[in-house]
Amino acid sequence: MNITLELNGAKVTHDVEPRETLADFLRHQLGLTGTHLGCEHGVCGACTVRVDGEIVRSCLMLAVQMHGASVETIEGLSDSGEVADLQAAFRERNALQCGFCTPGMLIAAQDLLKQNSEPDRERIRQHLSGNYCRCTGYQAIIDAVENTARARMGRQS
Ligand code: FES
Ligand code: FES
Repeated sequence: MNITLELNGAKVTHDVEPRETLADFLRHQLGLTGTHLGCEHGVCGACTVRVDGEIVRSCLMLAVQMHGASVETIEGLSDSGEVADLQAAFRERNALQCGFCTPGMLIAAQDLLKQNSEPDRERIRQHLSGNYCRCTGYQAIIDAVENTARARMGRQS
């Protein structure tokens, strides 16, 4: 099937198999390997992307569903600078080790900070509860998101 979508701000037209997931389409057809695949059944959050402004699990969506949609991946958010401060905070706080969960974490954290500019630690924990990290123990990730929220509010972290 032939689909046309907006991908990280650019129009893309591509043939896809009807059963191809959005995650496989991004990674294998388009080479956007920043979208990671962990569980492939909607649990770990590694495959998180934005579709029409909402975060979704790309392993649970089909590429054909993206016809006419706007899809944003970590490559797009990174290239535009939208999450540059979050990325810097993750580096500063050692909020990543292997980095497998990091693209999904950053997209989910940015989603929270767009909805709530001053989330408390419990709210951050709750919003990121669908994103698994096998390395960090989560505390440093919560710190990095909290510090970014404070910095965006013009406060010292
Ligand atoms: S790979 Fe999609 S939620 Fe785990
Ligand atoms: S940094 Fe390794 S899974 Fe999170």
